[in-house]
Amino acid sequence: MYAERVLSGMRPTGSLHLGHYHGVLKNWVKLQHEYPCLFFVADWHALTTQYDDPHGIANSAWEMVIDWLAAGVDPEKATLFIQSQVPEHAELHLLMSMMTPLGWLERVPTYKDQQEKLSNKDLSTYGFLGYPLLMSADILIYRADKVPVGEDQIPHVEITRELARRFNHMYGREPGFEEKAKEAVAKLGSKNKRSFEHLRTRFQQEGDANALEQARTLIHEAQSLSHVDRERLSGYLTGAGKQILVEPGYLLTEASKMPGLDGQKMSKSYGNTITLREDEASVTQKVKRMPTDPSRVRRTDVGDPDKCPVWQLHQVYSDDACKDWVQKGCRSAGIGCLECKQPVIDGILKEQAPMRERAQMYLDKPSLVREILAEGNKKAGVLARETMRDVREAMGLSYR
Ligand code: TRP
Ligand code: SF4
Repeated sequence: MYAERVLSGMRPTGSLHLGHYHGVLKNWVKLQHEYPCLFFVADWHALTTQYDDPHGIANSAWEMVIDWLAAGVDPEKATLFIQSQVPEHAELHLLMSMMTPLGWLERVPTYKDQQEKLSNKDLSTYGFLGYPLLMSADILIYRADKVPVGEDQIPHVEITRELARRFNHMYGREPGFEEKAKEAVAKLGSKNKRSFEHLRTRFQQEGDANALEQARTLIHEAQSLSHVDRERLSGYLTGAGKQILVEPGYLLTEASKMPGLDGQKMSKSYGNTITLREDEASVTQKVKRMPTDPSRVRRTDVGDPDKCPVWQLHQVYSDDACKDWVQKGCRSAGIGCLECKQPVIDGILKEQAPMRERAQMYLDKPSLVREILAEGNKKAGVLARETMRDVREAMGLSYR
């Protein structure tokens, strides 16, 4: 069976925090065992909003990749790379820009939203409008089947699907496509040829999904076909032309429920974070300084965990026995707040211990990170060039 390919990117924002870990990275770590995965630093994407001050990007990228590795993203399993080190993304972005209707980009909800939100920046630039197209190029150049993203990014995956369809429709029919497709059908052998034609008719005339599935299996299993013929047949089957670019699906990443130090969602912009590799003393101090139920002024006052951000962290880090201890102790003033915070501190430190250890290995030997990325850039480049070869050929731009 062909293994579906997963691709995701992250803008380099510098050190990641525990919200990123619980929201995104744990998911990546899980996915890397289930699919071939490509994870990349979207440094060009950072430029779309940070073009006036680009100098921190490389450093942020570096810190971020160390955080990925610290979190358990395994370079033996997943391919890690940097967008700008695979310049083919830019070529695909350019070629697709020729056939991307302006209206499609203007209608992407993040376009106006972000312009309003970041009103201190001039985002009426060509690059910012093209952000979703750049993201489409990132996805399509690897023929990714699945893209893990948060809810806000779903419209970008949708536009990617539409662009892939438009591209395949526009350029997927090489000159003489019908004849070539018929020749490929003939190569199936007389028995399979008959079933293929029968299934194709059933799909095209009656929309029979079962027939489509069977015909696809037939193509997949036909030993005598070349890769090119297989693609021709897929296109002939559905009437969509040759499938040069693959329409991706998305894997919705649940929004992180990780609470920050103040009970709001953990986020850099709220200043309520604990970073992935924050040192132990700082973690301890931050938790000790967390606000608690405001009605618990004195040690002898009873409290209500539902009004306390520390309780939210217990829900992430503590087992049932501990949570029971908090509930009873808080409501009866049987425990003090500092006492109550200790298991949370222990839980965070325990979670971070292996991350800190893995990160240390890379901090001690930065050449390891450089090698991982060099290797990843190389692997990604091979895949990207394969797609670009087909894209150029489909567009009549291969000078051979
Ligand atoms: N736009 C994404 C974000 O801000 C990052 C990104 C860029 C991405 N290219 C991508 C994510 C391709 C998935 C696939 O989160
Ligand atoms: Fe919050 Fe725990 Fe103090 Fe209750 S005892 S107010 S849950 S820190």
